Amino acid sequence: MPTMMVAGNWKMNASIESSAALLEDLVAGATSLSENTQMVVFPPLPYLAQAQQMLQGTAIALGAQNASEHAKGAFTGETSAAMLHDFGVRYVLVGHSERRALYAETDAVVAAKFKAVQAAGMIPVLCIGETLQQRQQNETLLVVNAQLQAVIDAAGVESLGQAVVAYEPVWAIGTGLTASPEQAQEVHGAIRAHVASQAANVAANMQILYGGSVTAATANELFAQTDIDGGLVGGASLEAQSFLAIGQAAQG
Ligand code: 13P
Repeated sequence: MPTMMVAGNWKMNASIESSAALLEDLVAGATSLSENTQMVVFPPLPYLAQAQQMLQGTAIALGAQNASEHAKGAFTGETSAAMLHDFGVRYVLVGHSERRALYAETDAVVAAKFKAVQAAGMIPVLCIGETLQQRQQNETLLVVNAQLQAVIDAAGVESLGQAVVAYEPVWAIGTGLTASPEQAQEVHGAIRAHVASQAANVAANMQILYGGSVTAATANELFAQTDIDGGLVGGASLEAQSFLAIGQAAQG
């Protein structure tokens, strides 16, 4: 099982042409990466079928950026976890800060989505992180542990054995301000300790990714930290060379 993960969240950036070119270059470049690192891409929904086809038989896994907490029914514009599974999706982001802030997703909704993704046989990538104001008020650990605990309360601590956690400080997303390796490690260590206090075996095997302005230049030092098991990459995942270089950094 790969110990590191490098995941690319394309957010709302793609076209048929750009997606084809990016995936083609990633598939070609990823062959030189070791089995130690799981590469994952999260394209926008309309491009899932294209990505599924282009990633078939490759080591790059397919992810989706969001899923409904509902199984089916009158939810116009929504996509169920089972539908994503139909298109070969293995990982689904839940609780991304953009969903929490722009679409008012509460901890309860995030937990329901987490459960829906697992029920459909996929792995949720649970995103947690503090705002700049919360960091300045020394509330960082309080906030991330509460976001994590909301999911543990709803789904049980053992559910984290089939999940990935991504620590993404809101102030570092899309700003060019990366958390320092020490700042990130402090929070990653606290997240693992929080889970360990409830299930040591789950905590020991849990992958915790760092996200927030990760680039090829910052990835090496971040990934060298004890409790950082890879990255969730936005901007730098839209270009094959930079995303592959971050994959290379995960090789250790
Ligand atoms: P950036 O890498 O563009 O800061 O985005 C991080 C992110 O939100 C990934 O989910």
